[in-house]
Amino acid sequence: MRRGLGGRVRRLRVAAIPAVFVFLASCASNAPQDTLKPDGPISRKIDHLFYPVFGIATVVFILVQGMIVATIVRHRHRPGKPDPVQVHGNTKLELTWTLIPALLLAVIAVPTAKTIFDLAREPTKNVLPVDVYGHMWWWEYRYPTLGISTANEMHIPVGSPVRLSLHTIEPGLPAAKGEEFATGVIHSFWIPKLAGKQDVVPGRVNKLTIQAEEPGTYKGQCAEYCNLSHANMRLRVVSQKQADFDGWVAQQRKPVEKPTSGDAAAGYALFTGKGTCIGCHTMQGVAGATARVGPNLTHLQGRETFAGAMFDVTPENLNRWIHDPSAMKPMRPEQGTGMPNLTKTGPHLTDAEITQLVAFLETLK
Ligand code: CUA
Repeated sequence: MRRGLGGRVRRLRVAAIPAVFVFLASCASNAPQDTLKPDGPISRKIDHLFYPVFGIATVVFILVQGMIVATIVRHRHRPGKPDPVQVHGNTKLELTWTLIPALLLAVIAVPTAKTIFDLAREPTKNVLPVDVYGHMWWWEYRYPTLGISTANEMHIPVGSPVRLSLHTIEPGLPAAKGEEFATGVIHSFWIPKLAGKQDVVPGRVNKLTIQAEEPGTYKGQCAEYCNLSHANMRLRVVSQKQADFDGWVAQQRKPVEKPTSGDAAAGYALFTGKGTCIGCHTMQGVAGATARVGPNLTHLQGRETFAGAMFDVTPENLNRWIHDPSAMKPMRPEQGTGMPNLTKTGPHLTDAEITQLVAFLETLK
């Protein structure tokens, strides 16, 4: 008897350890993806709905659990004690505990429905439309009214609603007849501080509005399992004052500046020729270099990260990446999803050639 109890206590203790860690994780003060610290009017609407509902749920939880515990203690079995009064079939009681929750749900439904419609409403003033394309495993952004495209790090003007149209495509896979690109898989676009999650679904275009109140960098990630590197499909939103944003747009519109000497010039020749890089990557200003299998690299150095916002853009990381991309981030290039190891396939790049390519990538401001 005693031994059985000891075992149960030990097991409870072991189970408590992960629970304590999960609880402590919620205390992080600098969590960049804290959905409870909204930074825009869209996410604040969700926050304003969450707190009253959470408050009501907490009161209900404490009342119900309190009554259960009180009942267990008060009416526990003791020798010689008669059964407590039975209330099964008591119409008054049953009506009460059916009507109170129904009333509560009806009350909560009012702000919930209002918030759902608010969030779905298309903004009308000063809207910036952006087409978001989920790829396995990175994000492509195209600005139809500005004529620019970029990857993983979306820039937006502070204070303006940005209306996202969410697509999923896989240009590395064979397209169906009559289609420009193969249909991708499901992703979910999620910037916790700016908006709720929105699924990115094949065959339809879902909409999501985001808006930031302050200039800054907001982190997010794909929130729907999308195969091998789902966990390595992060993203960032960089909100900027209008003038800074306009400067960024002007820079993004520029074509690549062709380097004229040294390793960078050799790298340019490789990128646009033998290296086969433009078979997958867009390079503005290079004839025919418009592919969308991989990210548009024309202004790579204007980003902090690459490969699904996973790695800092540094010469060392780019070198390591070209040597063996799947060693840094698991991908399936042989199945058309992800960057191939070009030292083992295609151009069979040498160390010297990779150094030249990186020297060229370093010039892409
Ligand atoms: Cu894309 Cu998970």
